[in-house]
Amino acid sequence: MAKMAVSIVESGEDAFRKIFKYYKRRNPPPDFSDVIDFSRGVQSHKIAAAKLDPGAVSDMEAARVGLQPVRDWRAFSLHGYPGFVFISNPFLLGSQPFWVRQCLKTYPQKPNVCNLDMHMSPSETQDIWGKSLHGLSRAPPGKNEPKTLLERLRWVTLGYHYNWDTKTYSANHYTPFPADLHQLSSQITAACGFPGFKAEAGILNYYRSDSSLGIHVDESELDHSRPLLSFSFGQSAIFLLGGTCRQDPPTAMYMHSGDVMIMSGQSRLLYHAVPRIVPAPQGHTSLDMESYSPASSPQDSTVVEQMPEQDWTVCSKYIQSSRVNVTVRQVLGTGQSFPETPSHPPSSRTEDQTDTYHDRPADGDSVKRKRSSSGDSDVVKA
Ligand code: OGA
Ligand code: MN
Repeated sequence: MAKMAVSIVESGEDAFRKIFKYYKRRNPPPDFSDVIDFSRGVQSHKIAAAKLDPGAVSDMEAARVGLQPVRDWRAFSLHGYPGFVFISNPFLLGSQPFWVRQCLKTYPQKPNVCNLDMHMSPSETQDIWGKSLHGLSRAPPGKNEPKTLLERLRWVTLGYHYNWDTKTYSANHYTPFPADLHQLSSQITAACGFPGFKAEAGILNYYRSDSSLGIHVDESELDHSRPLLSFSFGQSAIFLLGGTCRQDPPTAMYMHSGDVMIMSGQSRLLYHAVPRIVPAPQGHTSLDMESYSPASSPQDSTVVEQMPEQDWTVCSKYIQSSRVNVTVRQVLGTGQSFPETPSHPPSSRTEDQTDTYHDRPADGDSVKRKRSSSGDSDVVKA
């Protein structure tokens, strides 16, 4: 917990909100010196090496999805947050570009759902990538030039499509979950001691440098005994991990490109938020990305494949100023199904929770208003 942040919190207040605002602040900028950086290893007494199960995933299986052998992963736990695991970029050098392209070119495609679908026809949002190519290859985006669809993309949902208004998933709003992302997720969860994880829902968040994600708990999934996975690509983020109530001051940590977070057990239902996007440290993204040469597998079954150079040109330009976050969730427990009647918005909400909404990234300078499913430039109330 940041000393600076602690000193601004008084007892009984919404400590999370105060610290969120502190890290979001532009003028003067916050002091980042207490933000945990797992890429530097076990630098504080709050961090310990996490035990993984290297036998759960073969080196060959890992390489197929672009991951290093499990024994080489640098995985950490955080004191006071049982079930929370942070894996500092377990990807093989040069394999992140494949996943970035999936996030920018493949996953936004139909039948997946994105924010642009809320106010555009299916034909207009048909080929976001193709329709954006011309605009993205232009020199510095002119002030008066309309933004490309890719630049206006804020979220994509996969599998059981999350309904932002009712905060529910439903049986009748489902499309097949991407097989490659399911494989990646199940290998990571297996190594963390959760065999049999089923990736059933995904939310992709697209952040620009002034975006943030409001304070929330991911509680819409029906089985909270299954872990939640989070991947980060491109620019870095400050991630705040809090407690079970808003009075618990959160811990701030960096998420860099390639980092993976697992929220499970007691940490599965903790408050969290992204108050700020920060530039990737020198060499963090660009170096890895520029040396792009896909992991070659003796078998032909590799998921991570070579990509045309033009695709990488567009992706690398995009992530120079943006961050993509992918969260993967198992919605239903084994043998569980959705309730017959559509579930009402939870009636058991406490006063504390009414201030919380699961939000997609919001832009820094737009007018503050509560999120609706239609807009794509809303700001999160923190
Ligand atoms: C989410 C989430 C965090 C991030 O989508 O639920 O908490 O790092 N994302 O962007
Ligand atoms: Mn979340």
